[in-house]
Amino acid sequence: MCGIIGYIGDRQACEVIVKGLKRLEYRGYDSAGIVTEEGGRLYIKKGAGRIDELAEKLGFLEMPGKRGIGHTRWATHGIPNDINAHPQTDCTGKIALVHNGIIENYRELREELLKRGHRFDSDTDTEVIAHLIEEELKSGGSFEEAMRRALLRLKGSLALGIIYTEEPDRLYFVRNESPLVLGIGEGENFAASDVPAFLEYTNRVVFLDDREYAVLTKDSWTVKNLDTGERIEKSVHKIEWSLEMAEKAGYPHFMLKEIHEQPKAIRDALHGNAEIIHSVAEEIAKYDRIFIVAMGTSYHAGLVGKYLFQRLARKVPIVEDASEFRYELEDVIDENTLVIAITQSGETADTLAAMKLAKRKGAKVLAIVNVVGSMATRIADFTLYTHAGPEIGVAATKTYTTQLTVLTMLALELARVLGTADQGYLEELEMGLKAVPELVESVLKHETSLRELAEGLKNKRDFFYIGRGISVPTALEGALKLKEISYIHAEGLSAGELKHGPLALLEDGVPVVAIAPSGRTFDKVVSNIEESKARGAYIISVGDRAELMRVSDVFLEMPRMDELLTPIVYVVPLQILAYHLAVLRGNDPDKPRNLAKSVTVE
Ligand code: AGP
Repeated sequence: MCGIIGYIGDRQACEVIVKGLKRLEYRGYDSAGIVTEEGGRLYIKKGAGRIDELAEKLGFLEMPGKRGIGHTRWATHGIPNDINAHPQTDCTGKIALVHNGIIENYRELREELLKRGHRFDSDTDTEVIAHLIEEELKSGGSFEEAMRRALLRLKGSLALGIIYTEEPDRLYFVRNESPLVLGIGEGENFAASDVPAFLEYTNRVVFLDDREYAVLTKDSWTVKNLDTGERIEKSVHKIEWSLEMAEKAGYPHFMLKEIHEQPKAIRDALHGNAEIIHSVAEEIAKYDRIFIVAMGTSYHAGLVGKYLFQRLARKVPIVEDASEFRYELEDVIDENTLVIAITQSGETADTLAAMKLAKRKGAKVLAIVNVVGSMATRIADFTLYTHAGPEIGVAATKTYTTQLTVLTMLALELARVLGTADQGYLEELEMGLKAVPELVESVLKHETSLRELAEGLKNKRDFFYIGRGISVPTALEGALKLKEISYIHAEGLSAGELKHGPLALLEDGVPVVAIAPSGRTFDKVVSNIEESKARGAYIISVGDRAELMRVSDVFLEMPRMDELLTPIVYVVPLQILAYHLAVLRGNDPDKPRNLAKSVTVE
């Protein structure tokens, strides 16, 4: 995810762009850049770092010109550095553009353009677009036509802002599968990834749809169809939200917004790893001794990974809390060991230390990371990205479900490589995995009833979350979400453990959340529910079998799916429940007390 903004009018473009970029920083913040134009010359300033630092260091606010575009980046191709920051330009330096999205066929296009003599400066997929337009311009016709021809060759998602020196009165903006909205002013016009970027100047907006592009001048705006070049009539909408509401896309907190972003994030994780997963699985297949190291929510993802690996690929990884691994396992790691490190931030001190230790001992290290270019990706021998986009809320939500998505893809592919599962079954499971975003969408629709449920539970002192098999990590994660943002004591445990001690804590009205999908241990979980109910517990069951209604006070009905996919979907109601409990208790779920988004000290 990246943020883009463009301006054309009578104001100093850089001032509008810098303000807009700051409001888009939630979309990405690893690098930023601006291009403005004056007197037929482009002025470009860009670099790695956050907007405020860069504005000061590079002098963003001293850039001349009344039209320009800006970008705040969340890297997907090419590490965050000065060269990979946008704008990207063509060989002539006359075309500059910024991009939000992923160009899937950029490698082949780059090869083709290199053969035609183009020079590339960056490692980005974006730069290909500038050279492709340059190439199309050589065949004659207008810039707009050349741009359209070039864009028709791209596969993938994009929102683009384009500036061309030879056309001093206009800017182009293109949308396909990445958001883009126009801001319509008086004698000035805007475009951005999101409304807050220009809401200070105008609340009249035009939402672009997929495969549309806009030509903006100071006094006019036109929207056209990317495939035909024909003009499209669009209506202007008036935005009634406040700036603050708009930044969170109307959600009261980033956490809730991120919970709702999960279907898209999971799709991006599937999409973004489709090509690379096979080669990574082939590498993993060589190892029998596998450790998974991580902390917190990422550790819970690791536990799900263990169940997936053992069920599908007959490999049993040892999952270790990274802070324990680094002090306890040094002597058993060698060059025959594979260490899989899972970390959203890629900066968690304990996880990095475990990775460094593994490298020192000669082990191979695979990282599963969200933040591109983070330290973990530099230590690892190879990396799989979760493609969840920036997560601002301290509580991990979409980064967890995308970690699970990547681990499921990996286990599936590993089973294929090793021939450890029936091919027909693997295909079914893969189809099921592709349908998970829709299943998550259907679960998100239960938000109102979950809020009502939270109302009745907000004064409870303790919660228990139970599950068996692959649902044990879901129980742990549900409990972690609840404690970190609502400050209610919660325990997650395997349902079988109840009788060995914790049952003594159950009394009238204590909530027990039972994760009970259809599968190997369904009946056992039902017995554990009954055991708890007999002690007066208030049972909230999460499952797909109506018979759970009989034993539960509240039944959260989930759609049917393969048991191995349930961790991705079943955690969603638990996130929503924790969120509403936190809000009802007057807490800010985005900034829980005593906690930081990334724990960079031991
Ligand atoms: C979970 O909601 C927390 N934010 C925390 O447990 C987190 O998962 C842990 O600190 C690990 O962070 P990482 O994934 O960035 O390494």
